Amino acid sequence: MKNTFGNNISLTLFGESHGEYIGAVLDGLAPGIVIDDGFIKSQLSLRRPAGKIGTARHEADEYRIVSGAFNGKTTGTPLTILIPNTAQHSKDYAATRAYPRPGHADYTANVKYHGYEDYRGGGHFSGRVTAALVAAGAIVLSALREKGIVIGTHIASCAGISDRGFANTAEEITALNQKEFAVLDDEKGAEMRAAIEAAAAEGDSVGGVLQTAILGVPAGVGEPWFDTVEGVLSHALFSIPAVKGVQFGDAFNMVNGRGSDYNDSFYISDKEIKTRSNHNGGVNGGITNGMPILFSCAVKPTPSIFKAQNTVDMFNMTDAVLELKGRHDPAIIHRARVVVDSVAALAIADLLAIRYGIDYLMN
Ligand SMILES: Cc1cc2nc3c(=O)[nH]c(=O)nc-3n(C[C@H](O)[C@H](O)[C@H](O)COP(=O)(O)O)c2cc1C
Repeated sequence: MKNTFGNNISLTLFGESHGEYIGAVLDGLAPGIVIDDGFIKSQLSLRRPAGKIGTARHEADEYRIVSGAFNGKTTGTPLTILIPNTAQHSKDYAATRAYPRPGHADYTANVKYHGYEDYRGGGHFSGRVTAALVAAGAIVLSALREKGIVIGTHIASCAGISDRGFANTAEEITALNQKEFAVLDDEKGAEMRAAIEAAAAEGDSVGGVLQTAILGVPAGVGEPWFDTVEGVLSHALFSIPAVKGVQFGDAFNMVNGRGSDYNDSFYISDKEIKTRSNHNGGVNGGITNGMPILFSCAVKPTPSIFKAQNTVDMFNMTDAVLELKGRHDPAIIHRARVVVDSVAALAIADLLAIRYGIDYLMN
């Protein structure tokens, strides 16, 4: 069982969708990091569902930091965040207990935990738990920002509709991080939102691709062979429920070209080594080269849909048909983007702590 991520800076996640609290413990954080409550709240609000494109479950996310902080700064001891669950509708789940949702973790959790799992609302596998990840990630994101490292994610595509790519990344990240629906081209964003609403009206769901840029990480960070930048980031990213693919740079496009198309040639600018293109996503040999770290995540369509689906009665071992009730996101992608930024911050902070020591993130 592993609910902890990270080597030097680690995050433990706990809680279930319909339990009393969800939460996170951050260990190995430098002392003296400012706890920016306004930023934690705004990050939580970017994750929160809104309007017809999100679940009808509305949680206030009134978090409390119950250890590891004193006078508004981290102490360097384990920092514990608690977030109460207040808007559970557990009876929606009792009636369908025997019928695992296709695409969700009901069946696999039942096998792994031998029936002792809290199945209500997807239990420990619910997107709800990501609120704790986002609160913890916000603390790390603001510490990284003080070191000149910024992270931003846009919805590169949703329901087959594509956003434009990053161009002037630093300014775009600042703008994206204020947006509830994180696209670079707002007209495309409106089309995506309409597509999510159309799927929801049919009781169905859609997915998409998130693209992330991390700026300001110095060259030389990463621990080959096994804690490469790609390895550590993907480990963190695949923890996010519904993330089913990760690529760095132009990974899956590169296979169709030649070395001459995709080698990022070096040049000198202001006594620094840079590359003219960034097909490799800022990573060579598992180590940062100083260019923006670029990666994309495939986020699948929400598994809980309101169309009749074939499943089984897993206790009576018969075939069955599932007609779901409850509240679900018709798309996860726009809410997951801030979760991606949070886990990316943890992964990068951990790698920086290995190279420069834990106190690197002190304010
Ligand atoms: C922010 C967020 C919200 C989510 N909301 C839902 C939801 O409303 N309904 C649902 O079935 N799955 C939702 N999920 C996805 C499931 O938790 C996930 O698909 C499930 O645990 C199975 O894991 P897998 O898709 O990684 O295999 C959400 C995920 C995230 C990150």
